[in-house]
Amino acid sequence: MGYDLVNVGDKDLMMGLKFLYGLSQKAKFPFISANLIEKGNQKTIFKPHVIKEILGLKVGIIGLMDDQFSPGIQEQEAGVTVLEPLSTSKAVIKRLREYCDLIVVLSQLGASKDRKLARQNPEIDLILGGGGEATRAILERVNEVPIYRLEPRGGYLGRIDYSLVDVKRPIKFVVISERDEIEKRLERLITRSIQIKSEIAKSGEKDAMKAKELKFLESKRQELERSLSAFQDKNFYRHRSIPVQLSVKDDPCILKAVENYRAESAKLYRPTVGALPEKDLSEKEMLARIPKESPYVGAISCKGCHIANYHNWLKTKHAKASQTIIATPKYAQEECLVCHSTGYGKIGEYATVEEIPFYLRGVQCEACHGAGKGHPAKGEVQKKVTLGICRNCHTKDQSPTFNYLAYLEKIGCKISK
Ligand code: HEC
Ligand code: HEC
Ligand code: HEC
Ligand code: HEC
Repeated sequence: MGYDLVNVGDKDLMMGLKFLYGLSQKAKFPFISANLIEKGNQKTIFKPHVIKEILGLKVGIIGLMDDQFSPGIQEQEAGVTVLEPLSTSKAVIKRLREYCDLIVVLSQLGASKDRKLARQNPEIDLILGGGGEATRAILERVNEVPIYRLEPRGGYLGRIDYSLVDVKRPIKFVVISERDEIEKRLERLITRSIQIKSEIAKSGEKDAMKAKELKFLESKRQELERSLSAFQDKNFYRHRSIPVQLSVKDDPCILKAVENYRAESAKLYRPTVGALPEKDLSEKEMLARIPKESPYVGAISCKGCHIANYHNWLKTKHAKASQTIIATPKYAQEECLVCHSTGYGKIGEYATVEEIPFYLRGVQCEACHGAGKGHPAKGEVQKKVTLGICRNCHTKDQSPTFNYLAYLEKIGCKISK
């Protein structure tokens, strides 16, 4: 895909360091990380940074990853550790500053740590931020340091154009948005002047008010042009976030690689449970198939005593939430099941929809009310369902239009005042 380099993030370590290291050996571009190190000897596993020469400028590019590791990886990777990124980067940036004209940080720290990084290191020229909570595409400036982040999952392509005129060291870039603003005002001003002139010409008589306005516009125009010329010999940058829409054609090479990957990985997923028979089973048989030791007992178990809730629930999208993803390729279903099924990770993990026992399919009563075993005598069932429970699944990413009160009305249960 034409990459120049890659900053290693924690998810890249998901298949283990050996695997990633093998990939880095095959890649035609370097992997970098300034704070992923071998335990014990403090040596970085990949290059901490690279220096690229672009149009006679030396650009130092540093890679940083977050040290908030998920425990799974740490266990797997006993041989590696991640140093605290902010203090580690300070030294690297200082060193690079001595022989680089520009410093770019590829960060996987998330928005708030990126801001901290910018506050502590005004000598950074650009932070390209990834990781952390999802946000919209945005370029913000903290301490004059531009931080550029894009939406996750490749929805946008980010582009920053630099215009270099003044090569006196140290190289500095001003923000083009100020310039854009002045140009826009100038344009409006000129349009207005032309309009007034034509109005005066049309009426054919002297209009003191209009003449006065024209004079004012003229002086304003000179002023704006003066401030615009101040930019002429300055370096500037301009950023654009380009949405990757369906109208963007697929690259046949990449598409083929993706299809191969799908075919190969589909072979790995053979359901361990046969196709589910709940359609053909009587209610009694279904109840009999729910394991006695399971903390979750399924909506079918609630039906006998809460018949209205059950019938209303059946009509909601929650009841069918697993079916919704059945069209998704099997290898990709697992990541959906955290939200599109019940009790995932709590009582079992399954890779495909077919593997989910019927009483855990969809968003069952117990996804909101808690595990039903032992209820009503004892057990975990709660009437109160908090906003936090909805938010486990209705995240900003997956449910952008989520509105608590409006959504509550559509879940099929009576809401007390
Ligand atoms: C054997 C009958 C029976 C079954 C089966 C049953 N419940 Fe209940 N449920 C009750 C009774 C009786 C109450 C009221 C007593 C109490 O508050 O514990 C109740 C109360 C509740 C409440 C609180 C309602 C309130 O007004 O306080 C919720 C929520 C609830 N049940 C959910 C469930 C869910 C979910 C299931 C299935 C997993 C289920 N129940 C299965 C009998 C049952
Ligand atoms: C276990 C995850 C999970 C929880 C917890 C959850 N939801 Fe959902 N919800 C989903 C999924 C997944 C869908 C999409 C279902 C589908 O169509 O596949 C959905 C869909 C909905 C819809 C239908 C939206 C539409 O397009 O009509 C409403 C309404 C809703 N949820 C409300 C709530 C409310 C309110 C709560 C909290 C009280 C909640 N949900 C808790 C996962 C969850
Ligand atoms: C973090 C929880 C979460 C994950 C993970 C998730 N979803 Fe969802 N999904 C939801 C919620 C919540 C909704 C309902 C959104 C709404 O209506 O506001 C939803 C809605 C949908 C819908 C629309 C259903 C409809 O009736 O319009 C589809 C399709 C869908 N998800 C597919 C997927 C697929 C495929 C995956 C895995 C690649 C996935 N989802 C992963 C929570 C999730
Ligand atoms: C999306 C989350 C969600 C799901 C799924 C859900 N409930 Fe509820 N339920 C709620 C909320 C929210 C309330 C209202 C609580 C309150 O008023 O404080 C509620 C209230 C109730 C009540 C007490 C009020 C009433 O309607 O009598 C019962 C009983 C109940 N639910 C049972 C069930 C059963 C049985 C199922 C499955 C068939 C189910 N719920 C599915 C969220 C859910």
